[in-house]
Amino acid sequence: MKFIELEGKINPKKRQSASYVKRTFAITKEVKSAVLKITALGVYKATLNGEPLDKQVLLPGYTDYKHRVQFQEYDITSRLKTGENELNAVVGDGWYRGSVGIGSKRNCYGTKTMLGCELTMIYADGTFKTIEADESFLVSKDGPLRENDLKVIEVYDATKTPSDFYAAIPSAYKGEVVSQQGEPVLEHERFSPKVLNTPNGETVLDFGQNFAGYVHFRIQNGKTGHQVKLTMGEVLDENGNFTMKNLAAEGASLISGEVGQELVYICKDGKQEYQPYFQLCGFRYVKLDNWCEEVKAENFEGIAVYSDIQSVGHFTCSNDLINQLVKNVKWSQKSNFVDIPGDCPTRERAGWTGDISVFAETACYLTDPRKFLKKWFTDFMLEQWEDGSLPYVVPDGGYAPRARSCCAWSDAIANIATVLYQFYGNKADLEFVYDCVKKFVDYQTERAKKKNPLTRTKNSEHRHYIIERGFHYGEWLEPSRPMYKDFIKDLFYPDTEVTTAWFYQTTRQLSDMAALLGKARDAEKYSSLAEHIKQAYRHEFLTDGGVHSDRQCRYVRPLFMGLVDDEEGKPIAEKLNKMCIENDYKIGTGFHTTYKILSVLCDYGYIDTAYKMLENTKQPGWLYEVTKGATTTWENWNGIDENGVPRDSHNHYAPGAVVAWLFSYCAGIKPLKAGFEELLIQPYVGGTLTFAEAEYHSAKGKIISRWDKTENGYTLSITVPDGIKTKVVFPNGETFDLIGGTHHFNWEA
Ligand code: BGC
Repeated sequence: MKFIELEGKINPKKRQSASYVKRTFAITKEVKSAVLKITALGVYKATLNGEPLDKQVLLPGYTDYKHRVQFQEYDITSRLKTGENELNAVVGDGWYRGSVGIGSKRNCYGTKTMLGCELTMIYADGTFKTIEADESFLVSKDGPLRENDLKVIEVYDATKTPSDFYAAIPSAYKGEVVSQQGEPVLEHERFSPKVLNTPNGETVLDFGQNFAGYVHFRIQNGKTGHQVKLTMGEVLDENGNFTMKNLAAEGASLISGEVGQELVYICKDGKQEYQPYFQLCGFRYVKLDNWCEEVKAENFEGIAVYSDIQSVGHFTCSNDLINQLVKNVKWSQKSNFVDIPGDCPTRERAGWTGDISVFAETACYLTDPRKFLKKWFTDFMLEQWEDGSLPYVVPDGGYAPRARSCCAWSDAIANIATVLYQFYGNKADLEFVYDCVKKFVDYQTERAKKKNPLTRTKNSEHRHYIIERGFHYGEWLEPSRPMYKDFIKDLFYPDTEVTTAWFYQTTRQLSDMAALLGKARDAEKYSSLAEHIKQAYRHEFLTDGGVHSDRQCRYVRPLFMGLVDDEEGKPIAEKLNKMCIENDYKIGTGFHTTYKILSVLCDYGYIDTAYKMLENTKQPGWLYEVTKGATTTWENWNGIDENGVPRDSHNHYAPGAVVAWLFSYCAGIKPLKAGFEELLIQPYVGGTLTFAEAEYHSAKGKIISRWDKTENGYTLSITVPDGIKTKVVFPNGETFDLIGGTHHFNWEA
């Protein structure tokens, strides 16, 4: 496909206006077929004869543009008319050269936006014609979209129409041009606001739900040149005023860039309406400045935007706070599944790999994310370094290379592929990432042999399997640990317990993949390496066979990763249980063990503790934020601190990964064989719950598990797909085998 540059000389430091591109062409004879392929380095919206080509937004999607860009393809045969036709596109900065990541770094992939286009028409008489992007395409930089940035600001001047067209400059794109691989990013739910007047006298719209998207607004009686401003934020502050303060990365002012989320609109006369071209914001509240007329709720609509992924799982129970938590998690997934799995839709919007790694199981219980994740895997693999090292943000958006191969983050590709295999049983998903994971483990193996000059080097044999080089975020965001404290410590002293555990986990996953794929030699090699790492971990971190720490994560990790066997795990779990009780059932874990703490407690019989932790409404705890009115899941346990001050992002899905526990333990639905070829139904009843029900549309069909508390026991009703061998394990230890169908049971408690 041919490309054109849309700009001459520009100052890359200055925000640019969008490019308005047009190409007219005449049809003089009957067209049998016409196929248009189009894309941009930037973000584009295209129309043919004034009609939009697509419902998708933020095209062509987010890939690592250094390597590849997707194109969209349309059969436009029926949309052409005899005589003059006009193809138009508006091209903006997008992720290509707009603000990306925590530092809001710009020009990450290039300084000049481009358009790629190829239209092939076959005429009824057998002749054909191709129109490719070249100097016959005209461009205006003088249209209404004056500034555009997905994150920081969009400025639209409704008084302008594109003028001063000039010929585009033929150009070349060095990356690969591939057909669209991801799920379409579409507009979804629409919300009506309430109009608030804050104590500070601000006019604020409250959409009642935190989400990612934009506002559509109508102005009934505008005046030419009047400038209005909308600022999108997630929360109100401790005094009920609009705030953006929570979106500045705490303590990291040196690297923290603008979040902005501003929309400036310059009115024309009379009635008009607008919604952003190329902006995406995370928000529930919108502050209006200098509105030109009375603010009426009916003139505003919030539109949620996210990747159109099929929803497959529902959970409900007798505790409405838990039901709200599930709803919040679903919204955090939606808000952060916008073509790539991101961290938050506000501050960074970056593909932080560790976040989706811990969330992968939950994503699979709630939705079918296969297509979405496989598209992202491709960028992950393309960003692998020669030496096998992997990124920790994908697409890496120019992130500091020193932090590559950040344990628990960069391991995500192996972990997520393993989760996908468990849910869908497709070996091709493992084959797809196999070489990449193998190269990474080999890199980690060499890295472990090099010792950190800042830590005391012990020369014993086992130290060759402890990773202590490089930058690693460790457990990340345990309660009362401000972000910057974790960050600064990790810069100098990587948490070797976390790095080594993940080195083990990925190596073990690799050896399992090798075995499944019939690569016997690799399976043996990596299983032996995993054993060495395991012994090193135990030697270094499980002195006297036990854990000696006041941090919950130190207990959860060896238990869920299988770094100890069941017997050895007992005293560790016992101590964890004791610590949780002593901590008044408040959660003490960060990003990397929060998703497993309830599972390990249940595995070792501490079901009562698991439920009390889940249902705890004190801070820190999952339901604390629900009682504070959250409509999405918070990044940090103290998202609203003891003084009512909002902190950090209020829309991170990682801590919401507990939803997988609700499906797999509370309702008890788990694959016994990969892809739900065989099924386990093992509900863990408890807490204040009088019933729980999960419905999950698995790769093999619909599964329902519902239990109800009765006067002297419980009933269980299950539906399993036809022909699927199912093992039912009751809370009293009894088991029952069945194949497909709907079944009812009861037992005495
Ligand atoms: C992001 C995370 C991410 C983390 C790395 C944060 O700033 O928002 O979700 O995983 O950095 O520790």
